[in-house]
Amino acid sequence: MPTTFSIPSTIINGPGSFEKVGEQAKRLGASKALIVTDPGIVELGYVNQIVKNLIKSNINASIFSNVTPDPTLQNVNDGLKQYLSEDADIIVSIGGGSSIDCAKGIAMKLSNDGDFAEYMGVDKIPNNGAPLIAIPTTAGTGSEVTKVTVITDTERNVKMMLSSACLLPSVAIVDPLLSITTPPHLTAAVGVDALTHAIEAYISKRGQSITDTLALKAIQLISGALRQAWADGENITARREMMLGASIAGMAFSNSSVALVHGMSRPIGAYFHIHHGLSNAVLLLDVMEFSISGAPRRFADIAKAMGEKTDGLSPMKQADAAITAVERLVNDIQMPRLGEIGIDKNDFDDVVEQMAVDAIASGSPANNPKQATQKDIIQLYKRCFSPR
Ligand SMILES: NC(=O)c1ccc[n+]([C@@H]2O[C@H](COP(=O)([O-])OP(=O)(O)OC[C@H]3O[C@@H](n4cnc5c(N)ncnc54)[C@H](O)[C@@H]3O)[C@@H](O)[C@H]2O)c1
Ligand SMILES: [Fe+2]
Repeated sequence: MPTTFSIPSTIINGPGSFEKVGEQAKRLGASKALIVTDPGIVELGYVNQIVKNLIKSNINASIFSNVTPDPTLQNVNDGLKQYLSEDADIIVSIGGGSSIDCAKGIAMKLSNDGDFAEYMGVDKIPNNGAPLIAIPTTAGTGSEVTKVTVITDTERNVKMMLSSACLLPSVAIVDPLLSITTPPHLTAAVGVDALTHAIEAYISKRGQSITDTLALKAIQLISGALRQAWADGENITARREMMLGASIAGMAFSNSSVALVHGMSRPIGAYFHIHHGLSNAVLLLDVMEFSISGAPRRFADIAKAMGEKTDGLSPMKQADAAITAVERLVNDIQMPRLGEIGIDKNDFDDVVEQMAVDAIASGSPANNPKQATQKDIIQLYKRCFSPR
């Protein structure tokens, strides 16, 4: 079967690379940029630096800094209005996955009419979006290189996932220096999100040779650097490997897919407003245990990529070593269980069946190497809520 692999045509990577933003915007023919970001990123001073750099290339900027975590349809519509009223001709997005996803939504709406929900799912967008330069500040989502955006419909409590090459940024600028300010709990959560992307891309039924190669490299980089990045935020080597690992994991899952963990984590985000990385972290171990019999050799490869010594072990023990390695990592960076993140047990029980329905409807669980029924998913949610 033919396979397709799509990423941005230009990816600039390494410390100091964000200073290329003006040059790149000029190359794309821009004269006025809409900067899409959130208030935290403005406060850190990064937006100011981007504005100064754009001005050096004779590009004016208007700042839209109202993006909320898990961006909403309202965020997209507000940004779209500002882009049009300011006569912008390029979007520069700086921030975590929320800012970049919102920017992708705005870019897409500029060239595709109609209701946003019509474009939900895979390959439903007919026209390329406006030019977009994406600059991540978290080593997590990989959104700067993915053809994916996740926008929340707050009326229906649904995180809408759209995937199409029409959403790809024109340029990704991956600068690890911008991630140095992420505090330990955020470093851990976004890092586990990136690790989950790589693991799910590798075990997905929709993988291909290119994504397999990238996923294993990302697992190696992230599992080798996450502890140091978490313990010592100023460790530039660890930050560099995490940023690169997260981007490579993004390239992998965007062209393979995510699977059961992401399918189940999105409803937790939609109902309880839990950070996306954290909602993956609280599911990852138990869902891996559920999935392992569907792809034991793939899990054995993951164990090796994480540095586990598996020679001489039986095939099933080699696969199990992946779970042991992930468990050690998430414990070392103090990731909690689902029952420990402030969700009321009664509120959880009230929506658990609907969350399982929403998880299946998202399509991601169908890519899992072992299929999960609605009953399996409910049981998994409940197991994750209890102590291990
Ligand atoms: N498009 C994709 O491919 C893709 C993949 C996975 C997840 N997502 C989506 O991305 C969103 C999550 O993105 P995220 O995890 O990057 O978090 P985020 O963008 O929601 O940011 C979380 C918080 O961290 C702060 N922050 C960001 N960078 C910082 C830095 N360098 N220093 C200090 N604080 C910083 C932000 O100001 C914000 O308050 C979710 O909505 C998720 O669904 C998208
Ligand atoms: Fe994710």
